[in-house]
Amino acid sequence: MPQQFGDYQYEIYLGGLSGVMPTLPMDFAGLEAKARSALPPSVWSYVAGGAGDEHTQRANVTAFQQWGLVPRMMVGAAQRDLSVDLFGLTLPSPLFMAPVGVIGLCAQDGHGDLATARAAARTGVPMIASTLTVDPLEQVAAEFGDTPGFFQLYTPTDRDLAQSLVHRAEAAGFRGIVVTLDTWITGWRPRDLAASNFPQLRGHALANYTSDPVFRARLAKAPEEDVRATVMEWVSVFGNPLTWDDLAWLRSLTDLPLILKGLCHPEDVRRARDGGVDGIYCSNHGGRQANGGLPALDALPGVVEAADGLPVLFDSGVRSGADVVKALALGATAVGVGRPYAYGLALGGEDGIVHVLRSLLAEADLIMAVDGYRTPADLTAQGALHRIRPTGDA
Ligand code: FNR
Repeated sequence: MPQQFGDYQYEIYLGGLSGVMPTLPMDFAGLEAKARSALPPSVWSYVAGGAGDEHTQRANVTAFQQWGLVPRMMVGAAQRDLSVDLFGLTLPSPLFMAPVGVIGLCAQDGHGDLATARAAARTGVPMIASTLTVDPLEQVAAEFGDTPGFFQLYTPTDRDLAQSLVHRAEAAGFRGIVVTLDTWITGWRPRDLAASNFPQLRGHALANYTSDPVFRARLAKAPEEDVRATVMEWVSVFGNPLTWDDLAWLRSLTDLPLILKGLCHPEDVRRARDGGVDGIYCSNHGGRQANGGLPALDALPGVVEAADGLPVLFDSGVRSGADVVKALALGATAVGVGRPYAYGLALGGEDGIVHVLRSLLAEADLIMAVDGYRTPADLTAQGALHRIRPTGDA
């Protein structure tokens, strides 16, 4: 029996009847406002900020307003089935947690990667664990329970190190490798620049490197003995400006599903397909990398078409259950949430993430119930989404 995620609202209303009021915000605006005061200013600006004047980051969000779902009546969608098949796995819902480096620092106890993994275990919503974690990937994977987890690779310049990270992820039980392509160099981020704040340069979230035998062999002294030298070594290996010629090597690193993150152009999607990847991840990194870009949502239909049946993961700008449904209706196989779960973590730890995920899923499920769509496939098959004429258009 598929989970009826909308039932979360009964739990909340029934709680109210016995005097238990929700302590966590019910929408993104509330989450964001409260998280701002809960996080240290440097962490807040790192998470909330983006590239340039953050136009692309905002456009990612407003792009969803250009689309509207068409309700269908007399469908009797009393039971919905939001489950999806992905890389041979059956997931209870299409939602996943996008990789967020420094998610570790968003927890009040500084171990947000572990809290995120535990929230994945409780909800069945997979975590894509970043290369940049506070706790090593083996410890993160140990918290996943029965929920599959994915490892996101920032491909280092040292190929042996890349191989070591991927093999560790395989050994730890990760079920796929997500290679992020858009961040071999950091974009221009005025908020972080103004505070001269880049967490990794202060030695944060480097546990996967400092616990790695290949990385440690590059150091003259143990990481804890010389943090500065460790950070400088990390700088020297972090960003690999990959080209398509490197894809065969990336593919050879693992038999696990290989997914490329950051693809927005159909031609890039075709090249990825030709290179033997298992999944396409359409994203513009939440507008954190290159300002002046199209909203990721606008790229999604072209990416889905070029993917030609390969699964398409999507993120950037998802703030509500309605956004999740719209991305599915545009052909995404799975939909990623980024900043909202970081804010849930800041406010309520593991429970805060669980609340954010359950709220997104409840809203998505209830929209599908009201609008008469039982499954994600119904949304695409029935052309559930219509483009709204942009405001001011003649
Ligand atoms: C990210 N993102 C990211 N992506 C990735 O592949 N590896 C990473 O380590 C990180 N780190 C990271 C840190 C922070 C603070 C944020 C907010 C984001 C990008 C992330 O996976 C996703 O693409 C965006 O978060 C999606 O945009 P929204 O929904 O957060 O606006």
